[in-house]
Amino acid sequence: MTEISVSAPGKIILHGEHSVVHGKKAIACAIESRVFVRATTSNSNDGVISVLMSSLHDKQITVQINEFCFFCDKLKDEENPGIEIEKYCAETLSEHADEFMRLAMSCLLYAYYKVFLCSDPITAPHVSLIIESQLPIGAGLGSSAAYNTSVACILLLLSGRISTQSSDSFIELKNENSLNKINELAYEMEKIVHKTPSGIDNSIATYGGAVLFEKGILTKLENMPKLQLLIVDSQVQRNTKTLVSNVEEFLNKFPDIVNPILDAMHGITLKSEILLKNIHANPLNHELLNDLGKLIITNQCLLCGIGVGHPTLDKICLIAKKFGFPAKLTGAGGGGCAIILLHTSSGLLDSNVESMVKVLTDENFICKKAMLGAGGIMTKYTHR
Ligand code: MEV
Repeated sequence: MTEISVSAPGKIILHGEHSVVHGKKAIACAIESRVFVRATTSNSNDGVISVLMSSLHDKQITVQINEFCFFCDKLKDEENPGIEIEKYCAETLSEHADEFMRLAMSCLLYAYYKVFLCSDPITAPHVSLIIESQLPIGAGLGSSAAYNTSVACILLLLSGRISTQSSDSFIELKNENSLNKINELAYEMEKIVHKTPSGIDNSIATYGGAVLFEKGILTKLENMPKLQLLIVDSQVQRNTKTLVSNVEEFLNKFPDIVNPILDAMHGITLKSEILLKNIHANPLNHELLNDLGKLIITNQCLLCGIGVGHPTLDKICLIAKKFGFPAKLTGAGGGGCAIILLHTSSGLLDSNVESMVKVLTDENFICKKAMLGAGGIMTKYTHR
């Protein structure tokens, strides 16, 4: 019996959400809040594949491996097996009204198909996953990517395609080759959730830290200053896939208007990258922090300009402004989370932060200080 636990971090995007989908640069940082996936397995062909979400009142969903293997025989010539597997889940798991659970199972089955069944088939094990999430679901903090990278890691470990040290406590996976395989598979799984993701979420969940991301290429930001950020969950539900496709539609309809906005976002990312380096070298220079704040406010306006704002996010930004702090949405927008830079023009004011948090909490927003640059994939692996 093998027991594997894998954990991956959530993320915030400092700059570049949406524009990154259109080939521009983005800056993202892993955060301390994580998803944990625990797997138990035994080698039997007649078992089940199951997912249990302990953070969602122990909701569970189960698929018979034999039935799924039979269905997969038909996938051999399919160009896009992900879509077929999604349809399979929609049809066979229809009694599970919960769209979110079905999506989680679709991603797991797709990865299972890729790892165990498609080319070079190996014995398909029974897999039971228990998911615990410290991340709000669908709020722009990368919960689906943290889930998908963790699941990808577990299946690749079970298949022997990657390996990790045996350990009773969580250790960060450092092997570049293994991380690349996880990231590649997780990106394919992300397409099931988001259709045309840029790949930034799965990359940050896999490698952790702070990164500059452009067209699938990730550069670690080594000189990331210790920024003080507050993450505020508006608790407004939204769907990344819909928001991304709305922006695409807007871009196709008005390229002369939307392209310059995306270019301006790119410019903000580039300037911020330089500012971050300079702040790292001069952490007490308020002018640099002020400039970073101005770019945050400007980007928020640009994001509203491409239609991904929301009145509740406006409210959060306005409260932050009243206390002298710059704020913007993070992730796909349309609700979800905002980030507030906890520096005013006169420096960090603890009492101001406390008063602002009180006002935000009284408005029923959920506030959490962000620790940026958390580690990527971590594993805890015991074989008995
Ligand atoms: C990702 O968290 C947010 C978007 O940029 C989509 C993507 O990059 O895939 C909106």
